[in-house]
Amino acid sequence: MTPNPTDAVVILTGAGISQESGIATFREADGIWAKVRIEDVATPDAFQRDPDGVHAFYNARRRGLAEPGIAPNAAHHALATLEARWPGPVLVVTQNIDDLHERAGSRTLIHMHGELLKSRCAHCGAVAPCPGDLATDMTCDACGRTGGLRPHVVWFGEVPLEMERIYAALEACALFLSIGTSGHVYPAAGFVSIARTAGAHTVELNLEASAGATLFADHIHGRATEVVPAYVDRLLQAV
Ligand code: APR
Repeated sequence: MTPNPTDAVVILTGAGISQESGIATFREADGIWAKVRIEDVATPDAFQRDPDGVHAFYNARRRGLAEPGIAPNAAHHALATLEARWPGPVLVVTQNIDDLHERAGSRTLIHMHGELLKSRCAHCGAVAPCPGDLATDMTCDACGRTGGLRPHVVWFGEVPLEMERIYAALEACALFLSIGTSGHVYPAAGFVSIARTAGAHTVELNLEASAGATLFADHIHGRATEVVPAYVDRLLQAV
């Protein structure tokens, strides 16, 4: 299928795109959920029960993101190049809470599962930059109350962010790419069906077949740093 350069493109990304940048995925043998239980760190209940433990988990991840070796890879850069050079609209919807897409230069970007480098106040809802550790005794700059600051991330049981904007883009796109996601977590895992119903061509670029692989028209299996730049180069030949 040769896309038209004015086509709208929506790209869903997951942990697999950041794996070669040194950030662990979730569901692989050595992934985060093999070491920590979701119920202990990634639900509203966990935060209520053990806020210090939840803070410790995300503080460690935030510090990891600041390590000197952590940087966007060729796949992140290729998507930023696509956005810069593709004449039609390009939207990246990421499930990742790292900042590697923006560091690579992506500008039209939705962090549907939130951002590690932001905090949110459970009292007033204010979202603020959060470059360092969070703790239960910290005070919100916006409302002055203590104890409500939490990572600005979407936990299991919570509604992902900007869903209306995402659904509108999926319904209007002609090309839908899914990169580095296992297809186990909804609503993201259902995006391919929405795009396909809207008439989009759908392509999975992943290390292996995802849980929803059969829903895609095309499959390209390999490491993100190899398959994504090659696919973007092919798209940009049409421009
Ligand atoms: N290149 C391409 N794909 C890769 C690479 C790589 N270098 N390394 C791993 N993958 C693939 C894996 O084969 C797997 O299918 O990336 C996928 C990662 O899947 P998950 O670990 O399940 O991550 P993701 O799909 O992003 O998880 C979704 O679950 O717990 C949550 O909130 C968390 O946003 C996350 C959501």
